[in-house]
Amino acid sequence: MSIALVILAAGKGTRMESDLPKVLHKIGGAPLLHHAMLSASALEPERTVVVTGHGAELVEAAARDFDEDVLTVRQKDQLGTAHAVAQARGALDGFEGDVIVLYGDTPFITTETLEAMIAARVTHDVVVLGFEATDPRRYGRLIVNGNTLSKIVEYKDASDEERAVKLCNSGVICADSETLFDLIDAVGNENAAQEYYLTDIVGIANERGLKATAVTCDEAETLGINSRVELAAAEATFQANRRRDLIEDGVMMQAPDTVFLSFDTIIGRDAEIEPNVIFAPGVTVESGARIRAFSHLEGAHVSRGATVGPFARLRRGAELAEDVHIGNFVEIKNASIDEGAKVNHLTYIGDASVGARSNIGAGTITCNYDGVMKHKTTIGRDTFIGSNTMLVAPVTVGDEAMTATSTVVTKDVPNGAMAIARTEQTNKQGFARKLFAMLRAKKAKQLKG
Ligand code: UD1
Ligand code: CA
Repeated sequence: MSIALVILAAGKGTRMESDLPKVLHKIGGAPLLHHAMLSASALEPERTVVVTGHGAELVEAAARDFDEDVLTVRQKDQLGTAHAVAQARGALDGFEGDVIVLYGDTPFITTETLEAMIAARVTHDVVVLGFEATDPRRYGRLIVNGNTLSKIVEYKDASDEERAVKLCNSGVICADSETLFDLIDAVGNENAAQEYYLTDIVGIANERGLKATAVTCDEAETLGINSRVELAAAEATFQANRRRDLIEDGVMMQAPDTVFLSFDTIIGRDAEIEPNVIFAPGVTVESGARIRAFSHLEGAHVSRGATVGPFARLRRGAELAEDVHIGNFVEIKNASIDEGAKVNHLTYIGDASVGARSNIGAGTITCNYDGVMKHKTTIGRDTFIGSNTMLVAPVTVGDEAMTATSTVVTKDVPNGAMAIARTEQTNKQGFARKLFAMLRAKKAKQLKG
């Protein structure tokens, strides 16, 4: 069975109090919209249509960022959820199969739940995802009769008796494409909100002798985001779930509540994550690696047996091979550090490659930026970079080479050579003692006067 997705993302999200369109607010480093697209992507949809309105250009760009084949359609005025889905009709022209309607602001629906809905489609024309709400608030209510879903009543239009129903509408609906658009054609806006309600298709389906049913899921899955308070709560839920998944898969965390993960963080079995570590997007940590306290990682790959931190920063393009050591107050950006190399203290390595087993002394800086352009530093294998070396890129230091402490390297250093570039030391006999005496006398005079 072919699947198409229609993701509704035209709403303004007034309660977010933000200039950013609601679906672009992030959880785990990814926009809400990506979360919605991600859970459904496992169904391998033939087409995905995102309905945009408020902040359309930004939302469309974010949708394409996730899936370059995405189709986007604009809903000029937000006249209701049925009107929003109707905008996708053209984009689904020629598509035969099931359409699943999702909301861009509802990030936690699981693939399993969507699969259960598709399975229910075998015996029913329209399948709605419902949940038992602990606090049903203003959700639409599902009115069921045995296995049949008779209709959905919006809160505003519901009788007291209907409002007492706890089974609520999540908004996710699945139906055959042709059936869906036929039903939507019959939806009017004679209701309390004067909107075209997608939920009305259930009552209309029943009138036409079609069968509708509800599949239910846990309330936590259907959580929609309407305000920043809800966004923060959703982030907390997301983090708790991701931490638990990783721990279950064999990752060691002493203080999981202090570790922050992204939607795409990958951490191998037996890796150890100390407290207060932040994983921004794009990080992979292999089995048995150790990320020590207070480190910040983004767009980085840490191989087996490597150690990072405490207090280290790995930025985009940091590629650490096996058994690499990155120590405190070290920043690595767009650089590969080969097997067994060590960068242990107070160092910046950017736009560089460091060969196997080389040791980078404390305070070393790759001077990669001339104010206009970035340049590359290449360091060979088994090389020793003395403390406080400034590597003025572009520059190459060969294999088994050495730089003396405090050297400013402006010329390439051949294999096996030692570079030294600093002024020679002179010792002035007795000078320190004389200077101290002079300064102490001066201070004593000041105190008297
Ligand atoms: C909707 C459902 C309600 C359900 C609830 C779950 C209808 C009529 N009601 O109500 O039964 O319990 O969701 O959260 O469907 N949107 C558009 N264009 C529009 C209107 C909405 O794109 O013209 C998008 C919104 O951006 C949002 C989603 O559709 O992502 C839901 O719209 P919203 O106005 O939040 O619907 P609710 O009133 O919450
Ligand atoms: Ca809503």
